[in-house]
Amino acid sequence: MTKSFSFTHAITRKPSVSIIDGLRAVDIGIPDLATFQSHHADYIAALKSTGATVIELDADEAFPDSCFIEDAALCLPRGAILMRPGAPSRLGEAALMREHLAPLSDNLAEITGPGFIEGGDILTTETEILIGTSARTDPAGVAELRSITEPWGYTVREVQTPPDVLHFKTDCSLLDATTILTTKRLARSGCFDGYDLIYPADGEEACANAIRFNDLVIMPDGFPKTAQILRDAGYNVHPVGNSEAAKLDGGMSCLSLRFSPNT
Ligand code: GLY
Repeated sequence: MTKSFSFTHAITRKPSVSIIDGLRAVDIGIPDLATFQSHHADYIAALKSTGATVIELDADEAFPDSCFIEDAALCLPRGAILMRPGAPSRLGEAALMREHLAPLSDNLAEITGPGFIEGGDILTTETEILIGTSARTDPAGVAELRSITEPWGYTVREVQTPPDVLHFKTDCSLLDATTILTTKRLARSGCFDGYDLIYPADGEEACANAIRFNDLVIMPDGFPKTAQILRDAGYNVHPVGNSEAAKLDGGMSCLSLRFSPNT
């Protein structure tokens, strides 16, 4: 069983009307809620098509970015951890997850600070947890996560998210136990030494945030050359529309927590 991409469950949160107030690095347009909801439904259908159970949480209008649920928690086979988001408007999102994760994990831990850490900066592979420090995740947050996960048997590798990139996983995704899809700008740092790497096609770097979920690689629609590269490498590629999430720097990994309950 490949624990880093075989999952029985996922949790998602519906996009809210307040999504128009979501954080973004650059204004490339106001997200259209109806289109976002349609893409979100397609995403959930893709997760379910693998046989997984998807727990679909209602939108939370108080937190415009809360559909990007991955940032609020980290789910591992040995336990779940509530994060401490570095964006002030998102700090309260972690507490929202407690009631949903408590019944699904015998081991529910919490980042208490003073450091910050968001799930989008964490890539869990078969053998270790890679964490990119970023504007949202600082070394103190990494240290606290390490103090929780090392007793659970995990090794943490602290790396750096490239400047001006929101999250570490904006630029990378796990494809299988030994293979990572990554932009060249991230790979150049050497942070993936020991892994096999696949690069998006030139000009398609924005699709580096994908997810391996059971037998599927779920990736944003509109990147045909990279989709073909992945198909040629033997992956079962499933594109999903992401135009509205992308206006808020969101991608495939941000939209779910993926796990197998350990209760
Ligand atoms: N809009 C997603 C984020 O900035 O966290």
